[in-house]
Amino acid sequence: MNLRTQILGVGHYLPEKRLTNADLEKMVETNDQWIVERTGIRERRIAPPEHATSDLATIAATRALSSAGVSPQDLDMIILATASGDHIMPAPACLVQARIGATNCVAFDLSAACSGFVFAASVADKYIKSGTHKRILVIGAETLSRIVNWKDRETCILFGDGAGAAVLGPAQTDSKSEILSEFLLADGTLSDLLTNRAGGSRLPLTHDLLDQGAHLVTMKGRDIFKNAVRTMSKCASHCLEKASMTLDDVHWIIPHQANQRIIEAVAKQMDIPREKIIMNLERTGNTSAASVPVALSEALENKIIKRGDVILITVFGAGLTSGALLLRY
Ligand code: UT7
Repeated sequence: MNLRTQILGVGHYLPEKRLTNADLEKMVETNDQWIVERTGIRERRIAPPEHATSDLATIAATRALSSAGVSPQDLDMIILATASGDHIMPAPACLVQARIGATNCVAFDLSAACSGFVFAASVADKYIKSGTHKRILVIGAETLSRIVNWKDRETCILFGDGAGAAVLGPAQTDSKSEILSEFLLADGTLSDLLTNRAGGSRLPLTHDLLDQGAHLVTMKGRDIFKNAVRTMSKCASHCLEKASMTLDDVHWIIPHQANQRIIEAVAKQMDIPREKIIMNLERTGNTSAASVPVALSEALENKIIKRGDVILITVFGAGLTSGALLLRY
């Protein structure tokens, strides 16, 4: 019998503190009009000082487990996608495992930056389809406010903190919900477009590097923009092709919430009607690996997406990585 994977439940968490464009005007030389026109973002959430990525992830995970009706002891695996983990080691996935009391499972992180949730869901899908694992918690969580350069107006206006999670498991024989196809890409030749130069084994932190802010996010925005439009469209098209479906079969598109103009350019290139696009970046900014599961969870909570709807997710991120996931919820 061919096993299929379905999403059993989702959950998300956004910290309470809002950082508005007006707040940013007091921190760097920028203005609300520029940020809204160039990105679509009006505010983003910032985690409290006592919270790191695993704390945000734990709240989202608990909510996803409750929505799925799955107990932590029934989990076989936790995959946490993040670019802003609590420490270089241990993996925050293990911290979440301990916090929720998932005593019977393996836990590890996955590094694909903003594409992380789609990559992690794809890995989980393979384990479930192989029959070896039955309940997998997939999390995208970020505390980007800790690794952003708050003096760099090109990057600090973009990012926010948050976490989203989904519990994946085998679809029942009579269930229509399933992951229909995936398509993942990476192009390491473009790795310098978005990076934290220092703080790893390439450039261990020194006082000088710290003073230069070399451990913080640096980015070549315009190049990333162009690549994002190209790869998000390409991955989405391949994903549809693999499932022998067209955009007419799709109810909702959830693109990585990086920049409204990137999303509009993808929509134009692929001829996607605006009303099919789920967008929340106005309120969240770019929450990297958390962006897609937060948008999905909010859309379900607000009863915009319903069981049976076909959803096409398409993402890009540092690496550069990109990917798409097609599913019937
Ligand atoms: O998940 C992946 C994360 N990364 C991304 O998604 C980045 C993708 N790229 C982008 O979203 C856009 O490239 C940005 C929003 C980063 C920049 O928008 P842009 O339309 O590509 O602007 P630009 O870099 O071409 O800059 C235009 C001007 C420049 O001034 P001059 O040289 O024309 O005088 C910038 O210095 O805007 C200036 N500028 C700003 N002005 C006010 C750059 N940042 C700001 C700012 N406020 N925050």
